[in-house]
Amino acid sequence: MTTYLIKNVSVLGGEPRDLLVRDGQLHEPSGPAADVTIDATGLVALPGLVDLHTHLREPGREDAETVETGSRAAALGGYTAVCAMANTDPVADTAGVVEQVYRLGQAAGLVDVQPIGAVTVGLKGETLAELGAMAESAAKVTMFSDDGFCVNDPRLMRRALEYVKAFGGVIAQHAEEHRLTEGAQVHEGVQSAKLGLTGWPAVAEEAIIARDVLLTEHVGSRLHVCHVSTAGSVEVLRHAKARGVNVTAEVTPHHLLLTDVRACTYDPVNKVNPPLRTQSDVDALRAALAEGIIDAVATDHAPHAAEDKECEWSRARPGMLGLETALSITMQVLGNDWETIAERMSRTPARIAGLSEHGHDPLPGNPASFTLVDPAARWTVDPEALASLSRNTPYAGMELPGRVVATFLRGEATVLDGKATR
Ligand code: DOR
Repeated sequence: MTTYLIKNVSVLGGEPRDLLVRDGQLHEPSGPAADVTIDATGLVALPGLVDLHTHLREPGREDAETVETGSRAAALGGYTAVCAMANTDPVADTAGVVEQVYRLGQAAGLVDVQPIGAVTVGLKGETLAELGAMAESAAKVTMFSDDGFCVNDPRLMRRALEYVKAFGGVIAQHAEEHRLTEGAQVHEGVQSAKLGLTGWPAVAEEAIIARDVLLTEHVGSRLHVCHVSTAGSVEVLRHAKARGVNVTAEVTPHHLLLTDVRACTYDPVNKVNPPLRTQSDVDALRAALAEGIIDAVATDHAPHAAEDKECEWSRARPGMLGLETALSITMQVLGNDWETIAERMSRTPARIAGLSEHGHDPLPGNPASFTLVDPAARWTVDPEALASLSRNTPYAGMELPGRVVATFLRGEATVLDGKATR
């Protein structure tokens, strides 16, 4: 295994120091000369990022993304682990499919791919999937989600929460009361009225979160809320956390930066579920992330083939790329607050997903799964230059701060000089 001496690196913004990468671990430099020396002057080392919410599209839509291309995009974005959503084709609702995704991740070898299992068979919201079989499979699934759809039936949601409690699992809910969002295209408010598009009310999200935190409290189980997008949801979560409910929540980079004014372009690259909201929602989400009411930044990386995005708004699929831009967007929002970035993008998501090998600060004695960032670099997003197979980034042409220079997974470089090593 190649050994690396990393010189003059600032660990989480601290004084420059040297680190040795050997046998998958970080060490104080000592012993024989390393195979490779990296001059990390001016670079910041962060624990490898962990994404709780990635759509890798394989099996089924390998024209939009594969486990390998999505893993490469993740490594280039500074990630060492991603949780792969279950809305593939076939759906990841059996031990067989989650094991397939897990093995494809291992074969790609760029990040750890942790499959998320579906809560219900075929994401149909009718019968519970084989949660126990997925938990006991080689993929060791602990997180379950019907993301893309809400587990709407309160009785099924209750059963799912009860079931995962037995093995310390978690239900990740896509909070959307579908009866309130039928035909909805954009956030319900001033913009939807101006554009004459059916509105997607904030209450459709907030009502489900309120119901689910109460169910979670009743059952004594654990809930994670996917892509929180409204100020009202933050207040529901604040209330639940104050009561001691075992709930965590994530926010996407796009909900931290963009607003529903983007819909005025009618460019479907701005169509996403939940929809972009208002500036006051954005402000509330940022404050909640800083405060810890929202626990994690998760990308909801949702690649889509050109034919599903380059069409009229109402026909376009919702979703945006996220893996290669998430750190830069978060830096733009939080500034160079490395402690909060490490907490919200690595340590806490690793804990939520039960990925004990991840989320460790890049210091001697810890696993060598980390990323080196150049905080002074600025770059302009070129969709053609992204590693993802899809092009649906809402940040095309935007200049962003921060570039990932290198990423290491258990001591192996997955990215060097800003390029994937495989
Ligand atoms: O925008 C979204 N796209 N939100 C989701 O919940 C699903 C995702 C997808 O699978 O494309």
